[in-house]
Amino acid sequence: MVAFADLSLSFLFGLSGLTARHDDTSSESHHAEHVVRSPVCEQIASEVSSSSVVYYPGSYQYFKDNYHWSASSTQSSQCTFEPTTADDVAIALRILGQTQTEFGIKSGGHAANAGFSSTPGVQIAMYSFSDVVYDSTAQTATVGTGLLWDDVYVALQPYNVSVVGAKVTGIGVGGVVLGGGYSYLTNQHGLGFDNVVSFELVLPNGTVTDVSDSTNPDLFFALRGGFNNFGIVTRVTVKTYPQSLVWGGRISYSHDQWDGATAAIAHYAANLTDTKASIYNTYNYVAGVAEESTILFYDAPIRPYDIFEDFLTAPHIEADIGTRSYVNLVQSLPLNVTSNLRSVFHWIAMEEVTVPALDMIANETLFWGAALEEASAKIISYDVDIYVPTLYDHVASPTAYPASRAKGYSFIEVYYGWSDAQFDDVIFQAVNASAQHMIQALTDLGQDIADVPVYPNNAPPNTTLERMYGVNVPRLQEIKKAVDPENIMGLSGGWKF
Ligand SMILES: Cc1cc2nc3c(=O)[nH]c(=O)nc-3n(C[C@H](O)[C@H](O)[C@H](O)COP(=O)(O)OP(=O)(O)OC[C@H]3O[C@@H](n4cnc5c(N)ncnc54)[C@H](O)[C@@H]3O)c2cc1C
Ligand SMILES: *[C@@H]1O[C@H](CO)[C@@H](O)[C@H](O)[C@H]1NC(C)=O
Ligand SMILES: *[C@@H]1O[C@H](CO)[C@@H](O)[C@H](O)[C@H]1NC(C)=O
Ligand SMILES: *[C@@H]1O[C@H](CO)[C@@H](O)[C@H](O)[C@H]1NC(C)=O
Ligand SMILES: *[C@@H]1O[C@H](CO)[C@@H](O)[C@H](O)[C@H]1NC(C)=O
Ligand SMILES: *[C@@H]1O[C@H](CO)[C@@H](O)[C@H](O)[C@H]1NC(C)=O
Ligand SMILES: *[C@@H]1O[C@H](CO)[C@@H](O)[C@H](O)[C@H]1NC(C)=O
Ligand SMILES: *[C@@H]1O[C@H](CO)[C@@H](O)[C@H](O)[C@H]1NC(C)=O
Repeated sequence: MVAFADLSLSFLFGLSGLTARHDDTSSESHHAEHVVRSPVCEQIASEVSSSSVVYYPGSYQYFKDNYHWSASSTQSSQCTFEPTTADDVAIALRILGQTQTEFGIKSGGHAANAGFSSTPGVQIAMYSFSDVVYDSTAQTATVGTGLLWDDVYVALQPYNVSVVGAKVTGIGVGGVVLGGGYSYLTNQHGLGFDNVVSFELVLPNGTVTDVSDSTNPDLFFALRGGFNNFGIVTRVTVKTYPQSLVWGGRISYSHDQWDGATAAIAHYAANLTDTKASIYNTYNYVAGVAEESTILFYDAPIRPYDIFEDFLTAPHIEADIGTRSYVNLVQSLPLNVTSNLRSVFHWIAMEEVTVPALDMIANETLFWGAALEEASAKIISYDVDIYVPTLYDHVASPTAYPASRAKGYSFIEVYYGWSDAQFDDVIFQAVNASAQHMIQALTDLGQDIADVPVYPNNAPPNTTLERMYGVNVPRLQEIKKAVDPENIMGLSGGWKF
């Protein structure tokens, strides 16, 4: 998403401290003693095994379980629930269904849209599913959905293997294996969920089942893109790949250096054939300062000469590039400092990443960065993710997203972070206008992208199912009806079939 030069970082660290002080957690705990414990929470607590715990306002765990990266998707729940076993998840689902209580299911809590993994009802936090079991014979790892990808990379590092997870720190296993997962390894191995071998799933009726292509092809199709519509995933088994040290890191360009950065990005895109290469470009406008940061990545300790050369020779303000571990590269981006703002994402496909297209994107960054300063916008970021057209060629069976794998796309990921809720409408309208403008501009440049399905993990609120899942919508609705006739999962937020 965004990567910042030190220039903007000092500002962001200040900002992060400021928003933390404005977080009203202290008054929440102050009220805690007077809160009447909800009967649903008490019932869950009394029926589950003693290792699974319900937490109430005032406790640290309650705060942690409700906490989300985005301030706009953090809510105060009645209580939080940390299950330790799939059977206890099943008990909670039964009680929530019987009492028709809204609930949220949180893995890493990075959903930006309000209510997708948060709730005013019962917040389920998966943290206790935190095991990583590596099977060197099968070349798979079975990991709990309470983990962040950071944790998984660290756990697998001693074996010199890695998995296809998120590109930055803090993202949960859950939202990636159920939603997509664009990684530095995607050019080589596809999306995160393309590498899932099986899911351990608690169905809405409480049955715990292993879902794979052979045991249940319908659910295996539906889970890969369908999020929480079909039950709660407790563990997932994913393919592992040998992982050496990698080459790369972050390089940043001030506004007057953007032409060089833009030329380097376009040159890279035009010449990309080596799937070990990956880059992540971010045009940012932060508190009046425009800068571009690119993360360079090569999946070997030493880079090939050609494809990255222009980035290094173009004038830049800062570079932190070298040979390092995979997790060190992922964690080198100070993305945690962007937390605690209200936020929205958008997503636009690209067929070709050319200089005119990038200039258009750079202009959007500057235009909306300046235009939204009055609307409390702190970070406006237009990120260009470049992939080989074969990125979708890594699965044996169809997935809920994308509806067609005939052709892979690069894309623009738009991210706006702001602080004041009174500007929500202004910001949502701006991101919509900007997306429309970019779709038109790319179309005018001859790119056939207007109808490419939008990545559900980056789609703004109220995006239609058809816009994301295309022709797969009817099949997903049928599967949903079959496994959840009472619509228990409808009590949980997010995209709903
Ligand atoms: C700073 C930032 C960087 C990002 N970088 C990347 C990136 O590099 N690559 C990429 O592909 N995406 C990226 N994203 C998007 C990210 O993949 C999504 O936000 C993703 O859904 C987050 O997963 P999570 O588990 O942290 O989220 P959560 O908010 O915990 O969950 C997201 C959704 O999945 C559901 N869910 C989670 N766990 C379960 C479960 N166990 N069972 C059933 N349903 C569940 C939730 O109910 C919710 O609807 C980024 C987002 C942010 C904010
Ligand atoms: C991992 O790689 C390092 C460096 O090459 C090596 O020293 C170590 O023995 C390897 N570990 C395993 C388990 O293969
Ligand atoms: C990179 O792409 C450009 C534009 O297509 C081309 O002129 C150049 O020869 C390519 N360079 C390499 C090293 O392939
Ligand atoms: C980012 O924040 C998460 C908690 O939200 C934490 O687990 C993670 O270690 C942090 N990453 C870094 C690099 O500090
Ligand atoms: C810059 O972007 C804005 C907003 O989309 C648009 O109105 C304007 O015409 C663009 N300017 C240029 C030079 O493309
Ligand atoms: C903008 O909003 C309209 C109305 O809600 C919607 O139909 C359209 O798809 C949105 N466009 C984009 C690009 O988000
Ligand atoms: C989404 O739709 C709901 C219901 O119509 C509406 O209340 C909300 O404001 C919409 N959100 C956005 C961001 O447009
Ligand atoms: C639960 O649902 C699954 C999937 O629909 C079904 O196969 C199973 O028989 C159901 N179990 C019970 C106990 O009803």
